[in-house]
Amino acid sequence: MDNEAEYDDITTVLAIKAALESKNCRVTLLEANEELPIKLLEDKPDIVFNIAEGFQGRGRESQVPALLDFYRIPYTGSDETTLCIALDKALTKRVLSTYHIKTPKYQLISKNQNKLIGRFYFPAIVKPNAEGSSKGISDVSVVANRSELQQLVSDNLKLYKQDMLVEEYISGREFTVGIIGNGKDIHVFPPMEICCKKQVNQYNIYSYNVKQNYKEYVSYKCPADIDKELESKITSTAREIYEALSCRDFARIDFRLSPDGELYFIEINPLPGLAPGYSDFPMIAEFNCMNYNSLIWHILESALKRIGMVSKIKK
Ligand SMILES: Nc1ncnc2c1ncn2[C@@H]1O[C@H](COP(=O)(O)OP(=O)(O)OP(=O)(O)O)[C@@H](O)[C@H]1O
Ligand SMILES: [Mg+2]
Repeated sequence: MDNEAEYDDITTVLAIKAALESKNCRVTLLEANEELPIKLLEDKPDIVFNIAEGFQGRGRESQVPALLDFYRIPYTGSDETTLCIALDKALTKRVLSTYHIKTPKYQLISKNQNKLIGRFYFPAIVKPNAEGSSKGISDVSVVANRSELQQLVSDNLKLYKQDMLVEEYISGREFTVGIIGNGKDIHVFPPMEICCKKQVNQYNIYSYNVKQNYKEYVSYKCPADIDKELESKITSTAREIYEALSCRDFARIDFRLSPDGELYFIEINPLPGLAPGYSDFPMIAEFNCMNYNSLIWHILESALKRIGMVSKIKK
């Protein structure tokens, strides 16, 4: 089951802690639960390294950042508004379409509006509108026609209790781009390609199952094997998206490139997974000679610079 998909494993929490301690930070672990407000007031952290996914609802990733803003406690990463928008895939697509960013055609299906309206091209992929870590995206999430769609949508509406995004399926290559920093210090890593090693079916979805067993199903290439022109198109689009959504400190953006060469924005993760040896972002950093501790440090340093806090931490 994928009901824990979005939560961080304790090994990730401890790896981040160890990385920060290696730079002489004094680290206290705070759980994002009902006691957090009291703990924050007692502990008075100089800055919070935020990885909280929140409890429930479309705005869940904003809960902790909003609380930190309320208490005027600085934190790493994007603010509550960016996190809130980005967790809603359809809303993000709507915002980015005003910047003329190409994204697959879509419709939202809800309990009250559970049928497609008008023409829609198949195959289509069905995903929960507000999840990450491929939660709700399985190897059977691509449907070939309306009747398959209706069955999957009605099952998923019950299972995930939220709107489902039905999106035009884009075949072709898949890239993900890591970004770190702010303003003139923004650094865009070269695109990482997720290459299929073993096919589950014809659609090659980077599904929950594939992510869990990534060594068996995919290989990663960073920099991707693409020409300079395409690389610059992908990195400049990623940067434009990062800036359009007012992302801060770091984010990861997923794309698909259709066989006719069109680049499609799939989704953005302003709170990307940081599981060492598993998540895409640390993998991108590693491919670019930035080890895990340096990555964590770069994220913190970006936040410290942005806030104007002088770093007392050893280099
Ligand atoms: N429109 C699409 N066309 C083709 N494949 C798609 C499309 N949308 C999603 N996918 C596939 O499904 C995977 C997961 O989708 P998506 O990135 O939207 O989910 P997520 O759960 O938010 O992922 P993450 O783990 O990056 O947070 C993608 O990496 C891609 O392989
Ligand atoms: Mg993704």
